[in-house]
Amino acid sequence: MRCRLSPFHQRHAGIAPIIEVFDGAQAPLSFWIRRTFAGLRFLHQALVNSALTTSGLRSAPAFSQREFRDALGQFATGVTIITARGPEGQPVGTTVSSFNALSLHPSLVLWSLGLGAKSLPIFKNCSHYAIHVLAASQKPLAELFALKGADRFSHTAHHDSVHGVPLLDECTAVFECRNRNHHEEGDHLIFIGEVEHCEHHRERPPLLYHAGHMHTGGLMG
Ligand SMILES: Cc1cc2nc3c(=O)[nH]c(=O)nc-3n(C[C@H](O)[C@H](O)[C@H](O)COP(=O)(O)O)c2cc1C
Repeated sequence: MRCRLSPFHQRHAGIAPIIEVFDGAQAPLSFWIRRTFAGLRFLHQALVNSALTTSGLRSAPAFSQREFRDALGQFATGVTIITARGPEGQPVGTTVSSFNALSLHPSLVLWSLGLGAKSLPIFKNCSHYAIHVLAASQKPLAELFALKGADRFSHTAHHDSVHGVPLLDECTAVFECRNRNHHEEGDHLIFIGEVEHCEHHRERPPLLYHAGHMHTGGLMG
């Protein structure tokens, strides 16, 4: 018996081996060869797909890392310094622009830190940290807290929170957070902080970050 192909399947010859049915004895050799190749193609694609999924790799993006960074740079943000204390009481602090609001009920915020940051183990394990939204006048502080190996606290005015977290003076807003959760994604660790206390000072314009540069001119309008 021989099944005829519908006009649709005749047009789409690629899927023909799946629906073409021959009586075993009469099937030409070319049919079985095509069928075997279609099966092998299917198996190969399934293996490739499963390897990509388990390794987390997709096809390479159609843009360069430079283009990606430049596009991200068009997203203007404020600048924060996030502080905590290590197990021996040593203060740590780092400049971070990846801060953002997450939830109102409960009060949650998020930020991310590169997996290579020296302060990462302390932020990962501390019970509390503080997020300082910097005022325009604090650009030198933002630069200091981004500088590798710099003494960041000796000449920086600060006092301790009830949990012993170093709180910087003169910021435009401060969020004192419980270290609620973290989640590794790509080359960064995403932190989720539960805000236990916050304050803000409208009279202090914020420091802004855009296209890789910090701006002290404040907001227009
Ligand atoms: C404006 C600005 C924003 C930054 N934002 C981030 C950020 O969101 N996440 C991050 O991991 N590093 C960020 N950095 C780089 C870190 O501040 C810098 O690598 C860090 O201070 C090094 O920390 P460490 O001393 O713990 O290694 C930023 C730097 C600047 C100048």
